[in-house]
Amino acid sequence: MKAFSRAASQMFAVLLLLGVCFSPIALTAADLEKGEANYRKCKACHQVADGADLIVKGGRTGPNLFGIVGRAAGSVQGYKYSPDLKEAGERGLVWNEELLVEYVENPKAFLTNYLGKNARSRMSFRMKKSEDIIAYLASFNKLDVTTGEGIDGARPNATDDKALR
Ligand code: HEC
Repeated sequence: MKAFSRAASQMFAVLLLLGVCFSPIALTAADLEKGEANYRKCKACHQVADGADLIVKGGRTGPNLFGIVGRAAGSVQGYKYSPDLKEAGERGLVWNEELLVEYVENPKAFLTNYLGKNARSRMSFRMKKSEDIIAYLASFNKLDVTTGEGIDGARPNATDDKALR
């Protein structure tokens, strides 16, 4: 019994390690579906549009989220960001999935932490555990490197500023 539980706990440690390596966001079809459904919480303020190609209709209070993964923070041309989000981008903040989950959980705290000063955010919305939503958003800019095509119907990433307007 003792030997068994040691083996079990070793196995658990390995699984934990694997989990850490592949975290934070493992893409499954179910996650993407959940993310698509949950994205309605963001829709009131954000659209997803590849240039003139409107992928997900939404409000314009917040910036276009097309290509957000891999994009510099505060970089949509013509959108009026808060000075603090703009500054974070200018200081080199580039969004990845992990950072996006953290930001959405508490934009003000995220910026305060990043900038090392009491920051303000214009995004008043907060949400915990947005991994599925972020995975859904990431699906719009997954490129197959061999063909240059989007994977599974996803759109290629924006290549010029016009596509982010
Ligand atoms: C009530 C309106 C509102 C809702 C709801 C909202 N946002 Fe925002 N969002 C904003 C505003 C406004 C900004 C600009 C923030 C700033 O300038 O400080 C923003 C900024 C962002 C940014 C930074 C974009 C960039 O270009 O750097 C991300 C990422 C983001 N929102 C994701 C989300 C996600 C994901 C959701 C849903 C879970 C969501 N938002 C829900 C209003 C909203």
